[in-house]
Amino acid sequence: MRKILIIGNWKMNLNTSEASLLVHRLAERIKIHRDIEIVLAPTMLTLQPLSLQIDRRKFRLAAQNAYHRDEGAFTGEVSFTMLRDLIHYCIIGHSERRHIFNEDLPTIRDKVSAAVRNDIIPILCVGETKTERQDGETKQVLHDQLMSGLANLTAKEVGQSVIAYEPVWAIGTGDIAPPDKAAEAVAYIRNYIRDVFGTRPAQKIRVLYGGSVTPDIVSGYLEIPGVDGFLVGGASLNYESFSGIVESARKWQRRHAEVENER
Ligand code: 13P
Repeated sequence: MRKILIIGNWKMNLNTSEASLLVHRLAERIKIHRDIEIVLAPTMLTLQPLSLQIDRRKFRLAAQNAYHRDEGAFTGEVSFTMLRDLIHYCIIGHSERRHIFNEDLPTIRDKVSAAVRNDIIPILCVGETKTERQDGETKQVLHDQLMSGLANLTAKEVGQSVIAYEPVWAIGTGDIAPPDKAAEAVAYIRNYIRDVFGTRPAQKIRVLYGGSVTPDIVSGYLEIPGVDGFLVGGASLNYESFSGIVESARKWQRRHAEVENER
C-alpha cells in the first residue's frame, strides 16, 4: 500500500511567529506515523525558520511556488536551486497560480522540470473550473494539464511525483467534489499515467484530493480507489482541524489494515 500523504497548504497566511506557534501546536498533537507522511507548505518567508524548528521525523516541508531558472536577473523570484536543501516538495500549478497569476501550461511544465532537476518532488495540481465541468470538459482539461505538466519527465520521475486533483470550484468553497466525481477524475489521472508512462509509474505515483477537505470527509475519500491523501487549504491553518484530518486518516488506515488481515 502507498503511504498516505497529507499536505497543508497555508497559502498567504501566518507570519513567522504565527507559523511557529502553529507548528508547535501541531507537534504536540500529532504523533510520528510510519505510514502517514505529513507535509507543511508555509510561505516562502517562514520556510527557513520552520526548517530549524520541525521534527523531521514528523513533518516535511514544501514550498508553494518557485521559479524555474536557477539564478539570474529575475527580480522578486526564488529558485528551486535555492530551496533544495530546505524542502522535499513544491506545489506547482495550483489553480490560484494558474488563474490569479496567469501561469500557463509551458510555465508549469518548466517548473515541474526545475523541481525534479533539483531533487524536489513536484506536487502538480490539476483540476477543472465550474464552467469546464458544466461543459463536460473535465477529462480534456486534466489531459492537457497532465500532458504538458509531465512532458519533460521520465517514467521513473513521474512515478516519484505527486498529482493533486483539486477541482477549482471545490477550493475554499465548502463545496466538496462528490466522491463518485472525484473517483472518476482520479481514475482518469492514473489511467493517463499508465497509458503514457507505463504500469509501474501509474502504481507508484501518489494522487491526492484537494478542495474543502475537513476531518469529516477523510475516511470516505480514502475509500476511493487510487486516492492516497489530501492537499488541505483552510483546514490546515487550524491545529485542531489539521490534526483531526491526520487522526481520521490514521483511524481509517488501522481499520483498513484489520479488514485486509481478515481476508
Ligand atoms: P481549501 O481546503 O481551503 O478548499 O483549499 C484547497 C487548496 O487549494 C489546497 O491547495
